Amino acid sequence: MKTYLVTGGAGFIGSNFVIYMLKRYKDIKIINLDKLTYAGNLENLKEVENYPNYVFIQGDITDREVVSKSFKDYSVDYVVNFAAESHVDRSIREPEVFAKTNVLGTVNLLNCAKEAWLDGEQWKPGVKFLHVSTDEVYGSLGETGYFTEETPLDPHSPYSASKAGSDLMVKAYGDTYKMPINITRCSNNYGPYQFPEKLIPLLINNCLNHRDLPVYGDGLNIRDWLYVEDHCKAIDMVINKGLCGEVYNVGGHNERTNIQIVKTVINYIHENVDKSVTEDLIKFVEDRKGHDRRYGIDPSKIKNELGWYPETRFEAGIVKTIQWYLDNKEWLEGVTSGEYRNYYEKMYK
Ligand code: NAD
Ligand code: TYD
Repeated sequence: MKTYLVTGGAGFIGSNFVIYMLKRYKDIKIINLDKLTYAGNLENLKEVENYPNYVFIQGDITDREVVSKSFKDYSVDYVVNFAAESHVDRSIREPEVFAKTNVLGTVNLLNCAKEAWLDGEQWKPGVKFLHVSTDEVYGSLGETGYFTEETPLDPHSPYSASKAGSDLMVKAYGDTYKMPINITRCSNNYGPYQFPEKLIPLLINNCLNHRDLPVYGDGLNIRDWLYVEDHCKAIDMVINKGLCGEVYNVGGHNERTNIQIVKTVINYIHENVDKSVTEDLIKFVEDRKGHDRRYGIDPSKIKNELGWYPETRFEAGIVKTIQWYLDNKEWLEGVTSGEYRNYYEKMYK
């Protein structure tokens, strides 16, 4: 029985991963360590909270005592580090917390893992530290080309800079102490439980509330979208089959301009939910500072070496996602009350 210490497992991708793994494997144990910031939500984990092989710990990855105790209390085999501040717009307003959680939190996790796993020169057999990162560390592409694992890091936002910093610390523990590590760099995810500060759930929520749909700049920035479950599958494969020390890019060649995404959401809601939702709701607003123009992943390495491929086409994934938000209006109302309102007022005033 392998024991996973999953950090940030109450956030969007982390909770999808915890559910994916617990449903797929009966013979694993998951310890979910999450601070429960505004982005973490135990409601996401309702369907697994009573599983006997699942434990939740509320704690901060920067807290040495809590993390070290988690390693002492459980015989951890794998760390999967999702915990992070993850929203670019927030990082532009408050970079400090990104440096603290994303860089220092990751270093603290690495230290505690090293303390638990390294005995003299010998690493405990079968352990691995998997750091979940993003294609944003590579910076921005022009009209052609893709990010490969060899693309130099060139982050622009405080968010991506903090992720690049954490990636390099993970690499350093691999290079210096020979810690068994992997880094995954995935493109933009979408799917259930994504906090509605990110583009797709924000659009869905605003359509349902007849609010303007804010489009930054000319709306022609490009993101490469991947359904969250395909990302979870990739992480599972990298833990179990990835070569130690390697970086794997994850993406499904699903590039769309932001305005295409906006129109796709409007059309679905117009056709299936509410005829009064139309393109009149689109509002072009001031561009994001330092806005990266295009992201696009070359996933050849993970496809060729580990046999990963995305299962959900964008056309199906976006319908599933919109439908999930329609079926889970209480969840959406829960997360958009309170702090979200203050954030929204400040951000889009
Ligand atoms: P999220 O913001 O939805 O969730 C982050 C989770 O981390 C929350 O549950 C939060 O409570 C927790 N957390 C934050 N600070 C913490 C701390 N100090 N200690 C413990 N827990 C803390 O983020 P997400 O979209 O699920 O992203 C998860 C990871 O995947 C991040 O590392 C992000 O950089 C990476 N990633 C995200 C995307 C994407 O499109 N969302 C794409 C590629 C990579
Ligand atoms: P986002 O979901 O914040 O992800 P990231 O910045 O990490 O790629 O944004 C996706 C794209 O959508 C990005 O180009 C910024 C743009 N965007 C808008 O045009 N309007 C919005 O209100 C938001 C949140 C994002």
